[in-house]
Amino acid sequence: MSIPRPKEIIARAIQKRAHLIDSTTTNLIRLIDGTGDHLPGHYLESYGHAWLISTSAPQLNPAIEEALASYNKTLYWKRLDQHQKQSPTHLSGPETPEYFTGLENNLTAQLSFHSGYSQGIFIDQRHNRATLQQLAQPGQTVLNTFSYTGFFSIAAAASGATTTTLDLSQVYLDWARENFRLNNLNPDDHYFCKGDTFHWLQRFAKQGRTFDYIILDPPTFSRDHKGKVFRVEKDYGQLFKLALACSHPGTKILCCTNYRGITQSQFMAQLKGAHLKPAKMPEDFPESPYLKSIWATV
Ligand SMILES: C[S@@+](CC[C@H](N)C(=O)[O-])C[C@H]1O[C@@H](n2cnc3c(N)ncnc32)[C@H](O)[C@@H]1O
Repeated sequence: MSIPRPKEIIARAIQKRAHLIDSTTTNLIRLIDGTGDHLPGHYLESYGHAWLISTSAPQLNPAIEEALASYNKTLYWKRLDQHQKQSPTHLSGPETPEYFTGLENNLTAQLSFHSGYSQGIFIDQRHNRATLQQLAQPGQTVLNTFSYTGFFSIAAAASGATTTTLDLSQVYLDWARENFRLNNLNPDDHYFCKGDTFHWLQRFAKQGRTFDYIILDPPTFSRDHKGKVFRVEKDYGQLFKLALACSHPGTKILCCTNYRGITQSQFMAQLKGAHLKPAKMPEDFPESPYLKSIWATV
């Protein structure tokens, strides 16, 4: 695909962000968002000193690579491919170490371009984490399910809340512990649960344990060790019910999905028994509001 004037398009997209985000407190930013910035199929993210260009096409257009390289940043490329999820490929500038750090709202995240398809943080959740950080109070409790590297827990713990970080993967739980340490938070003051969210929610409910905040951001499709399938479009309501069983009046449950196959109203129709308030995506993602986020108050 030939793209007219890629240099100007890229410069304009970057210029637009300069007024949106305070780069002294946040350097994890989407700089180019596909059609939202007149560059279909191209997504450029800044991870501090390093940039990652992701494309839906199997190769990066040389004119775009040249235009990006002129910024003298470390540049990596990744093909967006749900089947062959590979680590980014280095293109130019000094290579990043295996682990390095970035900033979101003055909180430090451990990042990596060498540990697979995802880089350690999903930056489209920035506003939701900031909202949690504003809402959470010392002494309150937060259950962060499907936690990945635990950055929702960091946002809540920074406000003094006690967090429970839950993921299937020990690698991500260890990464979350490191994120606590990087932010001068003691991971030993918090809880980490390895295992299946559906199982743990039932266990907490049986114990009569409730939380002030619950984060639900599951993968679109998954299959548990017994072969039971979870699909966002059919089964989110069931997951929400399990979370309701671990809540008390006033609990806020953040329900998210990045599944493009359902609309916000179809998603909301699954969340029964709470007051629902949708939240918007960050302004550096103008292409499409694919991430649906609903704060449900019990
Ligand atoms: C889409 S990421 C979640 C992103 C995260 N909420 C964030 O904003 O950083 C999916 C995560 O869910 C975990 N996961 C998948 N199925 C799970 C399950 N049944 N129980 C617990 N964790 C699960 C994966 O290991 C992965 O870390």
